[in-house]
Amino acid sequence: MRILSGIQPSGILHLGNYFGAMREHVRLAAEHDAFYFIADYHALTTVQDAATMRGFRFSAAADYLAIGLDPEHTTLFSQVDVPEVTELAWILSTLTPMPMMENAHAYKDKIAHGLPASLGLVAYPALMAADILIYDSDGVPVGNDQKQHIEITRDLAGKFNRTYGETLRLPRDIIKKDVAIVPGIDGEKMSKSYGNDIPIFLEGKPLKKRVMSIVTDSKGVEDPKDPDTCNAFAIWRLFANADEVAEMRERYTAGGMGYGDVKKDLLARINDHFADARTRRRELDDKPDYVWDVLEDGGRRARNAAHAVMDRVRAACGLSRS
Ligand code: TRP
Repeated sequence: MRILSGIQPSGILHLGNYFGAMREHVRLAAEHDAFYFIADYHALTTVQDAATMRGFRFSAAADYLAIGLDPEHTTLFSQVDVPEVTELAWILSTLTPMPMMENAHAYKDKIAHGLPASLGLVAYPALMAADILIYDSDGVPVGNDQKQHIEITRDLAGKFNRTYGETLRLPRDIIKKDVAIVPGIDGEKMSKSYGNDIPIFLEGKPLKKRVMSIVTDSKGVEDPKDPDTCNAFAIWRLFANADEVAEMRERYTAGGMGYGDVKKDLLARINDHFADARTRRRELDDKPDYVWDVLEDGGRRARNAAHAVMDRVRAACGLSRS
């Protein structure tokens, strides 16, 4: 089974990316033919400085490698190394009803948070559909927030096939139910664009500051508390097993434990969980050529796969000689 997913290099990767997607990507890569890419073209909708872009692209790749992705068995690449994907996005855009794009949750959400409504931002789901369809992907492991984008991808592939004949393979989403949405420190969905995230490789004082600033209500230490409405609990439980979660629930409802205690324990768990990955991440910073070479190598493999599909697409649309 070919599985594919992309991650935007529009900031430093955070716990939401890790628990919502990346950890699952690493696990799935051991069982399937996995293609994972850095979604550089998508990131252009928000990152518009060359040095920043280059830095984020590097760190997205290095982060994947640091958390255990094996580049020998996985095709890790950069979206720009398969420029044909923009060609397919254009072709799909000619079949895309405008309201389908304007009504997409992720788009409306971004506009509501003040991102400029550029043509690229509206067309984002058509490019994402191209990302998926150009590799004949079977499964797309993503966070719950991307579910609608996969539905759009299936719609567009179906429309292409009805218009031009059976050409594109319809993918399905792979969404892990128990890690639906990771909240940020303010309780909204964790997102680098909302500035409420906890980056995976943040350490020391800055990390402590982030964790301690998780917004909670004003209940005092002695008061009984509700774990189900508490952001600190929602993030803490990502690092705990079922027994620990049950025990923590009791401590919440019993009272006598302050939010500060939960945050301190969370901090310790983050440090422990990412200790090895941080060491590997530092090593990768010292050998940048290795990281870029991994991407270049993956790009070659991905481009080969994309060429096969694009030949079919061009022929189906009459954009080739035969
Ligand atoms: N939209 C995805 C996100 O923000 C990133 C992405 C771009 C993607 N293209 C993709 C994910 C293709 C899966 C498949 O997380």
